[in-house]
Amino acid sequence: MTGGAGGGAVGQFPALMAPLGAARGSRRVGLARGKLPPGLRGYFLRNGPDSRLPALFPEATHWFDGDGMVHWVRLPGDAAGVEAGSGAEAEYGSAYIETQGYLEEECAGKAKYCGLLQSPILPLVLWGFWSKIRNAIHGPDRPYWVIQQKNTANNGLLRTGGGRLLATYEAGSPYELRLVQEEGGRTRLETVGVYRPGGGAGRGLGVRRGGGYNKWLHNFTAHAKVCPTTKELIFISYDLIGKKFYVGIMGPDDELRSLQDFDYVGGTSTMMHDFAITESRIVVMNHPLNFNLEQSMKGGVPFTYDRSAASHFGIIDRNLVSAAGPRAAEIQWIPAENCYCYHSLNCWDDPDDCALLHLYAHRTEETGGLGLATFLGEDGGIHDSSPGKGRGRVDNPQLHKWSLRTGNGAQVVESRNECTFFSDFPDINPQFVGRPCRFGYSLRISETAAVGDVPLFDAVLKHDLKMSSCETLPLEKGRVAGDITFVPDESRATQEDGGWILFMSHSLTGDQAWLDVIDAADFTSGPVASIRLPHVPIGFHSTWVPEATADRAR
Ligand SMILES: [Fe+2]
Repeated sequence: MTGGAGGGAVGQFPALMAPLGAARGSRRVGLARGKLPPGLRGYFLRNGPDSRLPALFPEATHWFDGDGMVHWVRLPGDAAGVEAGSGAEAEYGSAYIETQGYLEEECAGKAKYCGLLQSPILPLVLWGFWSKIRNAIHGPDRPYWVIQQKNTANNGLLRTGGGRLLATYEAGSPYELRLVQEEGGRTRLETVGVYRPGGGAGRGLGVRRGGGYNKWLHNFTAHAKVCPTTKELIFISYDLIGKKFYVGIMGPDDELRSLQDFDYVGGTSTMMHDFAITESRIVVMNHPLNFNLEQSMKGGVPFTYDRSAASHFGIIDRNLVSAAGPRAAEIQWIPAENCYCYHSLNCWDDPDDCALLHLYAHRTEETGGLGLATFLGEDGGIHDSSPGKGRGRVDNPQLHKWSLRTGNGAQVVESRNECTFFSDFPDINPQFVGRPCRFGYSLRISETAAVGDVPLFDAVLKHDLKMSSCETLPLEKGRVAGDITFVPDESRATQEDGGWILFMSHSLTGDQAWLDVIDAADFTSGPVASIRLPHVPIGFHSTWVPEATADRAR
């Protein structure tokens, strides 16, 4: 295997990320400290990998390969508030996302798919094809270029403009989930099925010609954006073999309004985990984390980061994309420095200059693809990116600002770091997506704790983009933080930081977890409430579902 796979993220996992192997039914959980805000009524959900069955090839199994498991915590939003010690104050549970691969393996009683680091094996390739054909009535859950790996749906969580709850995976279609409140008030999280934009979950043939979403061709990357004004959902999809990527727009009714294809810069397909929108544009972040088919076929990691190539920001007119008429939207590429961004914080059109936009994203000097990439060095050779074998840990993002001039004279007019801390996993008040905002939030990367290539987070940051400053809220010693979700407080709707930041924290010893609640406007005072949970492995992204939305799913 070509190098690049991080030590602690491959094979045997430490307790902090080891799979539970079983879902947890609904149970009551109590407050460890503080008082739950009265207005906070709904579900916090967090997705992450949790292998249900022993891996076929443990030595070639990456942490990312685990089946998607969603942990959820239901907060009561009691009008009088709920104080610590008053009894069972919240509800908690977890559920596997029942993907096609998960169900096939459950039926077989053993793993039938391999991980991201495994080279092609004929029996597994044949099984993968057979699975796709057998599932053809509703469509496979992954595009043609993903065969012997399953879609685990273990990465993102989001709500569409129409209120559907989706679990996303970088290289596959999303799965629709549903929160069901049973008699007696207990909650159950169930998998509805593979979701096709505009076609719902599990309905209709998988093959579609023309401009629709085709489950055989398209995927739906981990991150999508919901415009707070139009309630449109914008997503990107990429074809690593066909060297095209797609931009899709769903209306507030979840109907697919358009899906248009674009060529990669120079015909080189890259991984684009996230992107950004403004009120008028879509901004694609095309960095040189290139798909490496030859390396992948030999059992190596799937990507190679080119240390010499330029990055490019692709600017697309939102109005032209959503028009879906005979005139296809064009993309304007703006070259930028060599770097990589996994996540964007926000982006907006300059209020005084319609040709200017401002992008905030977490920029790392170079990336090892979190253990899934080699380096193409300045010497033209391929190098291992594992910690200790290359330049030390390389995925060290910092919040960065680019000001981009579009149209004639398109160029980067400003590029500067916004924060001295290394940080990632950003979020903002969702009412400000694509609009000028002052505050952003992210997680500080620990300088002392990590698991191989996977960083751990030891503080929550509140960035003041107007003042170019940030406040820091360190976690208690011995804890690390998971993805943050900003939940607006309806009673403070006119205040940008009027809301709460929710996140799971985990003991480094891997035996305890908490759901912490911070008042974003009183950031440095620390959590206003902390709910004690059983051990929850670290994972990926989170979201919030208001109680009223879940009620409709009964
Ligand atoms: Fe992400």
